[in-house]
Amino acid sequence: MKIIATGSALPHLELTNYDLSKYVDTNDEWIYSRTGIKSRRVISTETITGLAVNAAKNCIESSGVSADEIDYILCHNVIYDAITPSLACFVMHGIQASCPTLDLNAACTGFLYALDVADGLLKSGKAKKILIVCAEQPSKFVNWQERDTCILFGDAAGAVIVSNEGEDALFNIGTRYIGALYCPTSYGNSPFCKHDKEDKPFLQMKGKEVFKAAVQYCTSDIKTILEKAGKTVDEIDYFLLHQANMRILETIRTNVGIPEEKMPHNLERTGNTSSASVPVLLDEMNKKGKLKDGDTLIFSTFGSGFTSGACIIKW
Ligand code: ACO
Repeated sequence: MKIIATGSALPHLELTNYDLSKYVDTNDEWIYSRTGIKSRRVISTETITGLAVNAAKNCIESSGVSADEIDYILCHNVIYDAITPSLACFVMHGIQASCPTLDLNAACTGFLYALDVADGLLKSGKAKKILIVCAEQPSKFVNWQERDTCILFGDAAGAVIVSNEGEDALFNIGTRYIGALYCPTSYGNSPFCKHDKEDKPFLQMKGKEVFKAAVQYCTSDIKTILEKAGKTVDEIDYFLLHQANMRILETIRTNVGIPEEKMPHNLERTGNTSSASVPVLLDEMNKKGKLKDGDTLIFSTFGSGFTSGACIIKW
């Protein structure tokens, strides 16, 4: 599997930590020292569907691949603008492609799961080129009156096209149940439903448990994938990790022994954009010309579930 193009789209509204302090009782020093985040982009006039389509168009334009060469579209999102049809269906319409479409949900780990599913489709011969779009709008489900969650996130869409060329990628993904992140939905208006209809549809997070799980599973996923591939940290050009929180990333970096320059980050400007974070970071690096043909990359992501995984892939 080879990544042959990348794309991304971010909302225009930038919210600094200072801006947030006008909505909740917080300040730049608290947020920056605990998360490494300075600002994030949040949807105001755009829609996440529109950003997903723009990221896909951006990716296709830079690829030299035409929309009718795309054999499959996989979108990843925790929530978008509709329950049905899928976001992937809207993306297909937006880029004027015609192919099977499917949405996935593995929370912030989603990019890795989408790549793994794409790898299976490519290896089975069912597809030669697959468009993956990870589009996330956490601003829709965090409680903007709760300072412990709304300060962490940002909205974004990131895309890649993968093809059946290149060397095999290696995956190590998994899920174990930890109830540290949970977001209920509405029960609707069924007159028969006896559940509490007042349940607020906002993200509930046990921050310290998430921190520990993220560090534990991501550290172990990276060590396992290195072992499986028979490679050392020195042989990897870049480690692209889910941009959740700088303290989490720094702890993992120290645990694995990764030099600072091999672990790029952009969360200081984007916040945690869930599954979009790695494809957006990858697109930034690609557009800045930081990736060379043949570079060996490790992606590692983690999120609600607890889902996590790592992948080693040649650029
Ligand atoms: N501004 C100011 N004070 C705050 C804020 C805020 N935004 N949020 C919480 N506080 C206060 C709390 O009320 C508490 O006050 P108290 O001591 O008077 O009770 C104090 O700060 C300490 O709160 P803690 O929750 O203990 O702070 P902690 O040091 O654990 O940091 C944090 C909280 C940043 C959320 C941390 O637990 C963390 O990074 N967890 C990981 C969460 C994460 O990254 N989630 C991402 C989503 S999931 C994913 O992507 C996998």
